[in-house]
Amino acid sequence: MKKLVILTGAGISAESGVKTFRDSDGLWKNYRIEEVASPVAWQNNPEMVLEFYNQRRKQLFEVKPNAGHIALVRLEEKYNVQIITQNVDDLHERAGSSNVLHLHGELKKARSTVDPNLIYSLDHWELKMGDKCEKGSQLRPHIVWFGETVEMINPAVEIISGADIVIVVGTSMVVYPAAGLINYVRDESAKYYIDPKAFQVHGIANLEMIRKKAGEGVPPLVDQLLKQA
Ligand code: OAD
Repeated sequence: MKKLVILTGAGISAESGVKTFRDSDGLWKNYRIEEVASPVAWQNNPEMVLEFYNQRRKQLFEVKPNAGHIALVRLEEKYNVQIITQNVDDLHERAGSSNVLHLHGELKKARSTVDPNLIYSLDHWELKMGDKCEKGSQLRPHIVWFGETVEMINPAVEIISGADIVIVVGTSMVVYPAAGLINYVRDESAKYYIDPKAFQVHGIANLEMIRKKAGEGVPPLVDQLLKQA
């Protein structure tokens, strides 16, 4: 089976009702990154950080995967599929995708502030001050904040370097190191970029841009790839 790697960003979840970060109504228009998504923010105002992610998590319990997430699952019939997502939601998993690597963490998980290996699944939306790990330290969101190391980037590089086909969906490709992953794809591998604002990435061969929303662009591309497999 050919290896097919899918790199997704906030745009794939937009039609589920989850806000993106940099569109005109995006989250970073209403919040300052350094006040809610950085180690300094956590140090200065942990209540505000928890509240920001609590609101995101609450919404995540209310939304559903959309046609884009659902169509991607069908590729597993004929390809060895790996999703690499910048998203912290679990909509790929809930749609039924088997292999999902989260570069920037997961909203439905919390982690210890003394031992990063202690990670807990959350079955409710609210994480509060006073919620502690088994070693007695405050729990924080299991999210990679700005200024923190993206631990999953090395496995992601390895995965995408071996891809025969790459589909990029719904990302502005401005946040590194995630945006740099496209540079590791072999020249001869076919690449598709589905995003209403898709742009020609400098120096990337074999890249087809599909300027559509995920819900409109992903299903026909999946049909085409299944036919040609
Ligand atoms: P952005 O908000 O930067 O970009 C969202 C992209 O989705 C844009 O290119 C839009 O054109 C596109 N888009 C909007 N609606 C769409 C739709 N219905 N279908 C397809 N595409 C659509 O989000 P990301 O690129 O994911 O990191 O941002 C990367 C990282 O920056 C995030 O993971 C987050 C953020 O700060 C952290 O929080 C660590």
